[in-house]
Amino acid sequence: MAEPRVGEVLVQRDELAHRVRELGAEISADYEGRDLLLVGVLKGAFFFLSDLMRVLAVPCEVDFMAVASYGDSTSTSGVVRILKDLDAPIQGREVLIVEDIVDSGLTLSYLLRMLQAREPKSVEVCALLTKPERRKVDLPIRYTGFEIPDRFAIGYGLDHAERFRELPYVAVLEEDG
Ligand code: IMP
Ligand code: MG
Repeated sequence: MAEPRVGEVLVQRDELAHRVRELGAEISADYEGRDLLLVGVLKGAFFFLSDLMRVLAVPCEVDFMAVASYGDSTSTSGVVRILKDLDAPIQGREVLIVEDIVDSGLTLSYLLRMLQAREPKSVEVCALLTKPERRKVDLPIRYTGFEIPDRFAIGYGLDHAERFRELPYVAVLEEDG
């Protein structure tokens, strides 16, 4: 099989920047006067989170979690292993989970349950990308960047086997041919 490589571009760099500004404006309006805590899900969300945070017009704090799902490199089992937990308690906080991509939704549904058990004042989700065709569980995603087709996406933080995160746009992973 050929070496995986960068395929068709799904979301261009300027489209990312434009949509991130729109999301930032929406979130800023919604969280005005509240106590916003961004929770970035590592590693995939780190470009998105840092760009989003810079366009917010409301004060916020940030914390990170790192999770790994058991399963192969391109599909999830839904069983999530916490590699790094939050540094601080979230009880009473207004949490906004910032995710790179929601595919089956299993990872996020696990994370949501886990964080809700810590009794935050609110928990919402902001996902850069979503693949609606692949969804296995119904999830309340408050803010979505782009809906993409059922293709494996790389770039702007998203990886395939730890590669391609550095691309400044989102592309399809081309695996054969
Ligand atoms: P889910 O549990 O199936 O929703 O997928 C969860 C995680 O799998 C995401 O947070 C990503 O880290 C990873 N993932 C799913 N689809 C893709 C993709 O197209 N490209 C890169 N990572 C993906
Ligand atoms: Mg992820």
